[in-house]
Amino acid sequence: MSTSNARAVVDLDVTGATISRHLYGHFAEHLGRCIYGGFYVGEDSPLPNEGGIRLDVVEALRAMNIPNLRWPGGCFADEYHWRDGIGPKDQRPRMVNTHWGNVEENNHFGTHEFMALCELLGADPYVNGNIGSGTVQEMSEWVEYLTRDGDSPMVALRKANGRDEPWKVPFWGLGNEAWGCGGNMRPEAYADEARRYATFCRDHGDNKLYRIAAGASDDNLAWTEALMKAVSCLGCGREPRNIFQAISFHYYSHDGDGIHKNPATEFSDEQYYNTMVKAADIDRVIAGHSAVMDAYDPRRKVGLVCDEWGTWWQAEPGTNPRFLFQQNTLRDALVAGVHFDIFHKHAARLRMANIAQTVNVLQSMILTDETGGLVLTPTYHVFEMNKGHHDALQLPVHLIEKPDAYDGGGDPLDLVSISASTKDAAALISVSNLALDADTTVTIDLRGRAVTGHRARVLTAEKPQSHNTTETPNAVAPTSLDATLEGGLLTVTLPRHSFCTIQLDLA
Ligand code: AHR
Repeated sequence: MSTSNARAVVDLDVTGATISRHLYGHFAEHLGRCIYGGFYVGEDSPLPNEGGIRLDVVEALRAMNIPNLRWPGGCFADEYHWRDGIGPKDQRPRMVNTHWGNVEENNHFGTHEFMALCELLGADPYVNGNIGSGTVQEMSEWVEYLTRDGDSPMVALRKANGRDEPWKVPFWGLGNEAWGCGGNMRPEAYADEARRYATFCRDHGDNKLYRIAAGASDDNLAWTEALMKAVSCLGCGREPRNIFQAISFHYYSHDGDGIHKNPATEFSDEQYYNTMVKAADIDRVIAGHSAVMDAYDPRRKVGLVCDEWGTWWQAEPGTNPRFLFQQNTLRDALVAGVHFDIFHKHAARLRMANIAQTVNVLQSMILTDETGGLVLTPTYHVFEMNKGHHDALQLPVHLIEKPDAYDGGGDPLDLVSISASTKDAAALISVSNLALDADTTVTIDLRGRAVTGHRARVLTAEKPQSHNTTETPNAVAPTSLDATLEGGLLTVTLPRHSFCTIQLDLA
């Protein structure tokens, strides 16, 4: 095995945009075992629960400071009718979840259960409304049911269902993937729908909705441009109209063509690097959407939101392929580390991101089983190790020496990924070594403020395929790492395929 070197400069006194904690957001869909069997086991479960919500899942997510949770979909959102999910559970209508396995949905987890979950988590709710098969009235009444105080037909209904006080709902989604499962619309047609629905999603009392229009897949910049045109007046010198406040996009990482999915735990070196190239390419995609938005909205009034991201592999053998249950290896954790460095870089425009999905679906934080088993995935640990970036100020990082890029014939891949931020008297630096065959010694020149203490942690394992199971829950878990600090030069050696954080105490 070889070794390589990298050198970076971090200006601790030159701050940039705030890295919103909402870049560390989450997504929970009625899909496979995310809600039922993941978050929600029902009041009669022998597992410790409150109102049917699994408490060990809540505890693990609280420990990583989960900032928000998007629900009920995804594709499911555009066939979900919220009135089916309120009132006595034994009287709630059933439906078929046509997107995800054609299984029966009994609606036992509905509005009150979701809001109770958010309260237990201490997370802000992000409710995704139904444009594809719903009505303007239905969505408008859901907002009223959730957020209005005083007296009104929806307030009376909420009170009859046991909740007097309105909830706070900061984030509201206007449909999902309207170009596909959300209605197969053309961008201009959807843009008009988004304007119409947003108009009737009212701010009740002091609840201010941040309305998020359903955006593009990957780098479909034409979609973003159609939405920006719908709220702006290019060249007329006015701010965009305050109809919806953000536009989303979705971006999934994989190691091949994205259609023929490969296994989560068996992959070659080449497939590993292909995944990292794809993950790193979200930089170009965000830059593209931002450039389009800049043209219509130079003061960045409209936010960009990546409300679905993560890896998408073949479902685990023996599971329902439409339940999207996949294992999670060190490779997935490194994808998360690379994404966060890029999210931090774009924090001035990117206001929120939601990994898909939190429990038992796609790139999860937590895997559970029916017998009470719970596994924290390698990806969970990246979220936990990075929580010091929440609401911190971006710090510029100049990588002035780096190992040769990986060149697999496509886009070259930088093998060191790094970002930094500061909050109060602390700073946090995250660094990944993506090389499979070389440890990398990184020397960081810390300028501008005196550093009085430092602690480094590393997440790595024998192989990038390493993962956690109920039998080996800590095969991939953070440990402390030696780092030296001399005369403002911090030196740390990152093992091959590792993610590392360095916390600094500042004078
Ligand atoms: O996250 C799984 C699915 O991926 C979502 O339901 C959909 O929005 C996307 O295509």
